[in-house]
This record gives sequence, C-alpha cells and structure tokens, in this order.
Amino acid sequence: MKIAWITGAGSGIGEACAIGLAQDGYTVVLSGRREAPLADVAGRITAAGGTAHIRPADLTRAAEVQAIADFIQSEFGRIDLLVNNAGLNITQRAWADLTPAGVDELVGGNLSSAFYCSIAVLPMMRAQGGGLLLHTASMAGRFVSPLSGAGYTATKHGVVAMSHSINMEECGHGIRSTVMCPGEVSTPILDKRPNKLSAEQRAEMVQPEDCAALVRFVAGMPPHVCINEVLITPTRNRAYLAAMERKL
Ligand SMILES: NC(=O)c1ccc[n+]([C@@H]2O[C@H](COP(=O)([O-])OP(=O)(O)OC[C@H]3O[C@@H](n4cnc5c(N)ncnc54)[C@H](OP(=O)(O)O)[C@@H]3O)[C@@H](O)[C@H]2O)c1
Repeated sequence: MKIAWITGAGSGIGEACAIGLAQDGYTVVLSGRREAPLADVAGRITAAGGTAHIRPADLTRAAEVQAIADFIQSEFGRIDLLVNNAGLNITQRAWADLTPAGVDELVGGNLSSAFYCSIAVLPMMRAQGGGLLLHTASMAGRFVSPLSGAGYTATKHGVVAMSHSINMEECGHGIRSTVMCPGEVSTPILDKRPNKLSAEQRAEMVQPEDCAALVRFVAGMPPHVCINEVLITPTRNRAYLAAMERKL
C-alpha cells in the first residue's frame, strides 16, 4: 500500500493531485481547514474506486499537523509521499498596504505550515528508509516581481530553500525532496488578486491537472532519482508578453 498526504487538497492544485494520485493507487489523506471541500473530493475518489481519508486541520498550528502524522503512523505505519501544497496569498500585498497581520498570515500559511508538515513526516520516512516530499512553492519563490507581493515572494523563497536543505541533510536516509515552482495556475487563489482575471486569461494558464500530472511523474520516478526543482509555467506567459510589448 502506498500512502500520500496531500495538503490544501480541497481545491485547486491539491484537489487535482489527490484525484490523480488516487488513480495511481495511492491511499490519500486529505487536509485543509474546511471539511466540506475535502469531503467532496474524498467522495469523488471513493466513487471512482479509490481510498481517501479526510483530516481537516489548520496547518499553521503545529499540534494539529502532528496529530495528522500520528494518525498516518497509527493507521498505516508508513508514508510514501507528502504533497506539501497548502498556501495562500493576501489581497493587500503591496508595501503601501502591507500590515503586520498580513505578514503573519503569509509566514504562517506558506512557510511555517510547510516546515511543520515536513518535520512531522520525516521521522516516519527515516525509519522506513525513504520517502518523497513535494512542496508547492511558486515562480515567486525563484524570481522577485511585484505581482505576488513581498510577503508571498519571501515565504515562497523560503519554501525553495527548505526543500533543497532537506535533500542535503536527509538524502543519506533515502529521502527525496522536490520543489515545484508554478507560474500562473487557474485556481481559486487567483481570486485574491487585486486585479480580476477574465475567463480567457484563466484558460491560457496552467491548469491544476497539469500540475498534478507533473506531481504524478515525479512520484513515479524510481527511488534512486531525485527531481530537485521544477518550474512549470503557461506557454503564453503574461509576464513575458507584457515585457515584450514594452520592448524591454
Ligand atoms: N494558482 C497559482 O497561480 C499558483 C502559482 C504558484 C504557486 N501556487 C501555490 O499552489 C498552492 C496551492 O494553491 P492553489 O493555487 O491550488 O489555490 P487554492 O485553491 O486556494 O488552494 C490552497 C489550499 O490551501 C489550503 N490552505 C490554506 N491555508 C491553509 C491552512 N492554514 N491550513 C490548511 N490548509 C490551508 C486551502 O484550503 P482551506 O481554505 O480550506 O484551508 C486551499 O485548499 C499554494 O501553496 C499556492 O501558493 C499557486
């Protein structure tokens, strides 16, 4: 039995990963704060013949994260894959609008939560001699631009650094860490953008299922191969097109 824990599994990229990984034979554990979307995703997986467990939690609370890892340990005795994907952005993201509360929300929801989930699964992976952690960072975790805001950009840079440091310290235990850096993906997180997006703009973006296909590919690589970092962006990249238009 292969066990995957997917965070942010009730919507967007996490939802698509949960459905795809269940199709690949993983028993999936789904987390997010809201129970209803998790139950909806789990219901669809079960109806298609898969196995899903829901564990709602606020991942900014370390004790709630540890309780999910304890459930996985006691129920299955192992974990093969953590899709460390939950994250958020805020609308008031420009320096002119940024508040300490907004910074706390971003650091807690994007960086501390990702650390807590990694800390919670690593002992199981060390004991079993392997495992894969796959973190959803962002292109904003690689490159600095004003679009995503300073707090989001800084926390996602932290996620990239976190993932590489796991490989450095844990590869001797057979543990692999991958950081996925998507450009624009058409998911509910984009509803927080200060400027609203049209249906046409969303249709040209990477879709959640495209990210899930990448996650499934990485998870399917043999244990002696580590995919350290992947960028996945829309072909018609709006940032590039805008720069070309300005003839920069
Ligand atoms: N869409 C893009 O363009 C894009 C680009 C680059 C990176 N990303 C990253 O991709 C990841 C997934 O986002 P998405 O695009 O799929 O958007 P999304 O649909 O908004 O998904 C984010 C998920 O994270 C969960 N979540 C947020 N805070 C949480 C918390 N404190 N505890 C538990 N769960 C929490 C949310 O569920 P609840 O609200 O129920 O908790 C939600 O299901 C995020 O890390 C995001 O930063 C997205």
